[in-house]
Amino acid sequence: MSSFGELIYTPERASGEAVSKIESHTPKIEAPDNVKADQPFEIKVSVGPHPNTVEHSIRRIEVYLYEDGRSFNPILLASATLTPVYTQPTVKITLALKKSGTLYAVEYCNLHGLWEARKKITVT
Ligand SMILES: [Fe+2]
Repeated sequence: MSSFGELIYTPERASGEAVSKIESHTPKIEAPDNVKADQPFEIKVSVGPHPNTVEHSIRRIEVYLYEDGRSFNPILLASATLTPVYTQPTVKITLALKKSGTLYAVEYCNLHGLWEARKKITVT
């Protein structure tokens, strides 16, 4: 029996049929490499191009932070539930960090499961 984490696809771990879904399902994180402590900045997480129909769409995007030096991780930064057809799989959020860490974006496609991307962010 797999742990829940092992059920999340990543480009490195995808195999078999999932390899053909990497490009259309791995979230794209647009965020600065370096930010100043406590200074607000915007990040964007998007998925696709991907179908957006009632039968097949991106239903959820979540963004987490693994904060360096924190005893327990991750921190859930944002969670968006998306409605097929009407909502595009793109979220923009404004963050203000105190410490460096790694951003994780996880998206859920109703046909192709959970997919993860990550990006290091340094706070100076
Ligand atoms: Fe899909």
